[in-house]
Amino acid sequence: MNEHVKNTDLQPPANTKKVFVKTYGCQMNVYDSERMADVLRPLGYAPTDTAEDADFVILNTCHIREKAAEKVYSELGKLRVMKEARGQSGLGAMTIAVAGCVAQAEGAEIIRRAPVVDLVIGPTTYHRLPDALERARAGAKVVETDYAVEDKFEYLPQINREKTISRGVTAFLTVQEGCDKFCTFCVVPYTRGSEVSRPLAQILAEADKLVDAGVKEITLLGQNVNAWHGHGPDGSSWGLGDLLHRLAEVDGIKRLRYTTSHPRDMDDRLIAAHRDLDKLMPYLHLPVQAGSDRILKAMNRRHTAAEYIALIERIRSVRPDMALSGDFITGFPGETDADFDDTMRLVEAVGYAQAYSFKYSPRPGTPGADLPDHVPEDVKAERLERLQALLFSQQTAFQQSMAGRECEVLIEKPGRFEHQMVGRSPWLLPVIIEMKADDKLEIGDIMKVRITKAGTNSLHAERA
Ligand code: SAH
Ligand code: SF4
Ligand code: F3S
Repeated sequence: MNEHVKNTDLQPPANTKKVFVKTYGCQMNVYDSERMADVLRPLGYAPTDTAEDADFVILNTCHIREKAAEKVYSELGKLRVMKEARGQSGLGAMTIAVAGCVAQAEGAEIIRRAPVVDLVIGPTTYHRLPDALERARAGAKVVETDYAVEDKFEYLPQINREKTISRGVTAFLTVQEGCDKFCTFCVVPYTRGSEVSRPLAQILAEADKLVDAGVKEITLLGQNVNAWHGHGPDGSSWGLGDLLHRLAEVDGIKRLRYTTSHPRDMDDRLIAAHRDLDKLMPYLHLPVQAGSDRILKAMNRRHTAAEYIALIERIRSVRPDMALSGDFITGFPGETDADFDDTMRLVEAVGYAQAYSFKYSPRPGTPGADLPDHVPEDVKAERLERLQALLFSQQTAFQQSMAGRECEVLIEKPGRFEHQMVGRSPWLLPVIIEMKADDKLEIGDIMKVRITKAGTNSLHAERA
């Protein structure tokens, strides 16, 4: 089964130490955590699932909302106790690192506030982790927060089979990092730096490695993935639509997805990809944040509600079964009841299969935090509740609409019971397949099924 594993240099030496990586935030962090584990493997660090027995603990953090950032400090409180206990037990020192977006945003301040931290490393400098770790283990307090995203992509070791694939036959592939949009509520342009696209050749090489490792479905990642731009083999300018067309030519890739997109960057070529490529799944995460033009303007989203709805109509005209997912913020500064009603109207007009919604959280250093007319917490919460009720009813309706339908499922793992297999529908919903005695299904297969029942979080199906 391992005949494809060629990168033996990434196997841990016999004298193994353990690293525990805890991941918060978005898929970019999931991807980065796997890359950090890859960088550490040749140094003799094998991943472990618990902090207690780790020589090295990395918190890969998220700064997007206040609550996300605060979680880090409460975790560091627990780690302090563990580190002390370990020191006394004679097991050797525990090194603690804070990585990710809190590291980038707060830098050395983290060590001031939580002296238990040995190393602070921002998301664009993970290729420097071995060196930074060595210095930290020698007793230095290390802070690495320069922006160096190109170097990161170039030097991070290439995909290693077993440990980099989050769900076995599906994998993430970062094609773009950072953001130049500067939505006024958002920290990402500050924590991830400006937009950088990975070159085509690097992406294709990584995709080949994933396919060799048994991956069937690749999700292209970027904070602003549809802003990806590069050059084709003939030197012409390429966008994400071209990249998807090219990746669809790779035989071993059976399914493609991408996330997260900005409405401004949904160009014609990308929409055409949804018309032309069977491998491109009919699921699109296209956050809008709000439905009031006044608030969209204050957020610097650079489009109106009507433009967003028109865009959705264009996408659905080429791919009628497209499932839409979105992100919403309630209570952005200055949002009135009438503005919020516009958000509710937009949601009704679009009809979402899935959505994420949040109360506005003022982030230090972003323009939104300095705006007048902050909305009281209870009003934000009450709006969020109403919005979530509407989104939930749409999500339920979407799931129920699947009952009786036929679709293809990519098998990802065995189910809870022996006669079950679990996979995902094209629309990303988990599907539990009840196998008949003569069904021969393996992980990685794509099977045509009929949905027999829609539950709250998954669908049930049998062979069609
Ligand atoms: N790049 C993506 C999303 C990045 S952050 C995009 O452009 O849409 C993920 C989501 O977190 C955002 O879409 C937004 O809905 C939410 N978010 C970001 N900053 C926030 C803040 N300050 N308060 C509340 N929610 C926020
Ligand atoms: Fe943040 Fe806006 Fe960039 Fe998305 S597009 S990452 S919300 S600044
Ligand atoms: Fe959070 Fe950074 Fe992702 S702030 S959402 S981990 S880009």
